[in-house]
Amino acid sequence: MKKNRLQQTLVLIKPDALKNSMTGYVLSQLSEVHCGIRFAGAKIVNVSHMMAEEHYVEHQGKPFFQALIDYLTGAAHYPDEAWKRRVIALVYHGENAIEKVRRIAGPTNPHDARETQPGSIRSLGTVVSVRDKRGKIVGERMDNLVHASADEPAAEREIKLWFKPNDIPPAMHLFDTGICQDMFSFQKGRILKNHQGDSICLLAPGDTVWTSDLDTLNTFGEGKLSDHSVKSVIVKYLINETRDSWV
Ligand code: CDP
Ligand code: MG
Repeated sequence: MKKNRLQQTLVLIKPDALKNSMTGYVLSQLSEVHCGIRFAGAKIVNVSHMMAEEHYVEHQGKPFFQALIDYLTGAAHYPDEAWKRRVIALVYHGENAIEKVRRIAGPTNPHDARETQPGSIRSLGTVVSVRDKRGKIVGERMDNLVHASADEPAAEREIKLWFKPNDIPPAMHLFDTGICQDMFSFQKGRILKNHQGDSICLLAPGDTVWTSDLDTLNTFGEGKLSDHSVKSVIVKYLINETRDSWV
């Protein structure tokens, strides 16, 4: 039997679950009563393209990638009501949290979930045809209601992608943090080390940061965003930023 490990995992309640008013059901399935894991973080996010692309970076180039971005940003489910485009991002904390949540979520494909794991969350999802502008079917998308981190490296990457250290109670921190010594701001695709005009402040001296983020930022310094590792650091500081044309 596998040793018990204290873990955290990222769960996203995706736009299809919100549209179908399934949030309460998902939270109840994942509740402590069922599997002994606890909330460590929660936020409502209007998902930017940058965030969706970073979250699903491993799927870049696959045939379903664009459909997946439209799904996570909410554009697929709310084409005409942009203000409704949201996901609920959650961090769960507890022993073997990653595997427990994956099991309750069920297999990726809702059809498989219904066959092999009826009662799992994803068994209530659907598979939809993806059409081009002229209505021709060009592929399929799995609307499976929730995201759940696949393993420990994915969970650490994803939690740090969506959450700042201060979004999580300090006694629940599982990943190293440090103190930022510099200022970092963002303006039209560039990282600056001061605040200029209408730049968006990302970090100020004295802020608590993930140590791995600090290493990435210190190595990068200033300049135009090209590398996805820097995007994956800053995108959480741009969550729900109104100057979204920059994001
Ligand atoms: O979410 P999970 O880790 O189980 O699966 P994934 O292989 O990492 O794929 C990410 C998401 O892409 C899935 O949850 C589906 O929503 C979507 N997907 C899809 O639409 N079509 C596929 N052939 C594979 C995945
Ligand atoms: Mg995955």
